Amino acid sequence: MNKISIITPDDWHLHLRDESFMTAIVGDSANQFGRAIIMPNLNPPVRDCAQALAYRERIKAALPKQSRFEPMMTLYLTDHTSIADIKTASKSKFIHGAKLYPAGATTNSDAGVTDIGKLYPVFEQMQKSGFMLQVHGEVTSPEVDIFDREKIFIERQLQRIRKDFPELGIVFEHITTREAVEFVRACDASLAATITPHHLLINRNALFQGGIRPHHYCLPVAKRERHRRALLEAACGGEKFFFAGTDSAPHSKSAKESACGCAGIYSAHSAVELYAEAFESSADFTHFETFMSCNGADFYGLPQNTGSITLERTEWTIPDSLPYPESDLIPFKAGQTLHWKLVANG
Ligand code: DOR
Ligand code: ZN
Repeated sequence: MNKISIITPDDWHLHLRDESFMTAIVGDSANQFGRAIIMPNLNPPVRDCAQALAYRERIKAALPKQSRFEPMMTLYLTDHTSIADIKTASKSKFIHGAKLYPAGATTNSDAGVTDIGKLYPVFEQMQKSGFMLQVHGEVTSPEVDIFDREKIFIERQLQRIRKDFPELGIVFEHITTREAVEFVRACDASLAATITPHHLLINRNALFQGGIRPHHYCLPVAKRERHRRALLEAACGGEKFFFAGTDSAPHSKSAKESACGCAGIYSAHSAVELYAEAFESSADFTHFETFMSCNGADFYGLPQNTGSITLERTEWTIPDSLPYPESDLIPFKAGQTLHWKLVANG
């Protein structure tokens, strides 16, 4: 097989940033995907309907004129999110959920939620309005080992939210562990998970390969090989409640290569090709379209895209760096060879 055509895929978890940081990279996602769920962790965060719609306008204005790329907006939940915020946002066809960042869990999460219990009236309203909850699933307690934070989040928080809000639609974002895969499988139809290309392609050794590798640092951090294999099996197996979400998160080279480097891997430049590389490693593309283009739309209750993209088997090299404000942007797998190239999107 030397060519694959699939329905235009979507990115169900994307960081686009703002202003010149956004204009530098938004074209990459538009080249690869039809739509994307846009994360709200700007500084200050996107907390209400008006802010989300204004951010959407800025994204649309930064896109090339002929682009049909559709940003699907989200709200950032804080301790002060109100029922009215949810009611208003859930009426907008451009806003597709609210993101739960446990305070301190990741980049720009300081304004996140300090006590999930206090958000119960908000969850109640979200459940009533059919408004999706996107979850960064990691506990932040300093005594919990960083490699266990997702597993403990499932045990201490997510199971409880599921039990108390059985009808609430939940996307467990960027899962990294076998425990998360098994949790999703054991849930019913109202919970699904996104999987990133980097968590399909690297394990935690990649962070320390011959020295510290800041461009492989993201949150949740990559885990052991047995976890990577569980993710690969879920993605490539065509299981309904797993779908693509890149968590592509640009930080300038200088912000990454620093004594306290930022968390985030930039994959948007070649996201579909990176997912293809993961499927290639399993030698089975049977469910590539299902994972990339169908499961996410089905779970969000949206129509699948009408266009298609084509990838060709050909070796090509990811650039060493890309232009970005302040300093360059180092893409995931910079300088490395991939075996599939996106040749058409329409
Ligand atoms: O690695 C990450 N980077 N994980 C996140 O959850 C946030 C993201 C970012 O915004 O940079
Ligand atoms: Zn993210």
